[in-house]
Amino acid sequence: MPNNHVARQGVLNYSEPRAPHSRLVHIGVSYSAPPNRVLAALTEVIDQVEGLPAEPRPTLRVIGYGESAIQYELRYHVDTYDDWRRVESEIYRLLWYQFRRAGLEIPFPIRSVHLQRVPARGADVSAQRLLRTLRAIDMFRPLSEDELHTAAAAFRHVHYSRGERVLDEGDAGDSFFVIDHGEVEVSKRLGGTSRSLARLRAGQFFGEMALLTGESRTATVSAASDVDLFTIDKAGFESILVANPAVAEDISAILAMRRDALSQAAGEVGQQGDGALATQVAQARILEAIRNYFGLYTRRGK
Ligand code: CMP
Repeated sequence: MPNNHVARQGVLNYSEPRAPHSRLVHIGVSYSAPPNRVLAALTEVIDQVEGLPAEPRPTLRVIGYGESAIQYELRYHVDTYDDWRRVESEIYRLLWYQFRRAGLEIPFPIRSVHLQRVPARGADVSAQRLLRTLRAIDMFRPLSEDELHTAAAAFRHVHYSRGERVLDEGDAGDSFFVIDHGEVEVSKRLGGTSRSLARLRAGQFFGEMALLTGESRTATVSAASDVDLFTIDKAGFESILVANPAVAEDISAILAMRRDALSQAAGEVGQQGDGALATQVAQARILEAIRNYFGLYTRRGK
């Protein structure tokens, strides 16, 4: 190319100065998805993308009604221009998982014909797996076969990809999770760093503390591998406890042990004297708190 031609053109320098560079991502989402839910799901995604500068914050807008989708615009910034490919790949990758969990559909272009054969027994297989998983959990042992089936109907399946946060320390939360497949990492912020507390695998559960006591999440739980989880909300769990309050006794024992581990990790001085006795006392208190929170005394008295 002749030099005089180059000299006549404007030159855009993407590496100097190193101020944040702004980029736009356009996403089309089904007309059946309420925009507030879409914006909430997109916010969750942004919060999980690593390497985005704290300022300026990404912004989200609904920008119009397209042929087959409502159009959303995400504007984000990167400090280093070359970073945009990695960031955008992360956004599109995480978006798929987040939208799938939230039941939001990214539509196919309207002109393509998409024929889908519905798997006849898919739901059955997952229901059987769920029953098997619930049966293996000690805390659900008091449930009769009928009660177990009723409980299973209140769970739904969710999938997280490796590295995604399932729940965040300090958040309010009313969902409880059972691990169907894969592993999660439980960690806690201590003195500015994140400390790993436990790794939980198939057949184990988490999220019971906030659900059962109404307090905020005590730790962060992230997917250590791609994980399949079954989740239930407070109303669903309440129906299990009301059907069989003995479940609260088993779960309070586990809660007391986990609380103990959390206090130890935080370097709190334990109660004086017999450790086992202290845990028993803590368990009794937790059981009392669960019964009060779910109104189990009142119901039984009626
Ligand atoms: P919750 O407080 O609702 O959210 C974070 C979850 O991490 C918590 O419930 C427990 O399920 C789990 N958790 C907290 N501490 C431990 C621990 N020491 N061992 C295993 N799991 C834990």
